[in-house]
Amino acid sequence: MTLYDQIDPTTAVYVVVATLAELPNGARKIVEVDGRPLAVFNIAGALYAIADVCSHDDGPVAEGELDDHEIECPRHGARFDVRTGKVMSFPAIVNIPAYPVRVEGENVLVGLPPTAA
Ligand code: FES
Repeated sequence: MTLYDQIDPTTAVYVVVATLAELPNGARKIVEVDGRPLAVFNIAGALYAIADVCSHDDGPVAEGELDDHEIECPRHGARFDVRTGKVMSFPAIVNIPAYPVRVEGENVLVGLPPTAA
């Protein structure tokens, strides 16, 4: 897994991952872009995207329970802030990628690092 805490939104390559209609308030969508699993969340009207890969044991994290802005990995309970990818509790100790999100018309786009897009 490529580890980085934040991508420069000005150099990211934006890819359409959903429509606004697919992401009403409280919804999430899990997608794969170039083999990279991502999850996009609408929390109180704001959109966030993280890698759907737990840094503890590479399990999918995005189907876990969401508490405010924290997602709990369904496998062993590590928690991450979906706004930043920052790890919030054990057993994970490494942050996961968080991606910039942009809306263009009805489309939701996620910004990926230029070399990975
Ligand atoms: S794989 Fe996520 S906490 Fe272990």
